[in-house]
Amino acid sequence: MIGRLNHVAIAVPDLEAAAEQYRTALGAKVGPPQDEPDHGVTVVFIELPNTKIELLYPMGEDSPITAFLEKNPAGGIHHICYEVEDILAARDRLKETGARVLGSGEPKIGAHGKPVLFLHPKDFNGALVELEQV
Ligand code: CO
Repeated sequence: MIGRLNHVAIAVPDLEAAAEQYRTALGAKVGPPQDEPDHGVTVVFIELPNTKIELLYPMGEDSPITAFLEKNPAGGIHHICYEVEDILAARDRLKETGARVLGSGEPKIGAHGKPVLFLHPKDFNGALVELEQV
């Protein structure tokens, strides 16, 4: 059911420094910061030949990234995103297996303008999983 790895998201304590490190030390193609108020994050996309990296930084008062950075002050891998062709079919199949969908259970529009859902990390070996319909 799942397809390509769409991105790996890394929460960072200093967005500018992290973006600069990917640009200069790693020689990556780094985009400009983008505010995503619906998700409480500012995101920098990094294009790799086979996938993307998303640098996440908190935006607003109740950003989901704030608590993560309190627990991981140096930053850390926050989630991984897999592509699916039909997000509602994927959700229903996952729910049948007992996996928990976070939030209302309805897809939101994600950072790439496509529907996304998040799955409970306790149901996936401690990894927060995002599904994105492509
Ligand atoms: Co993501």
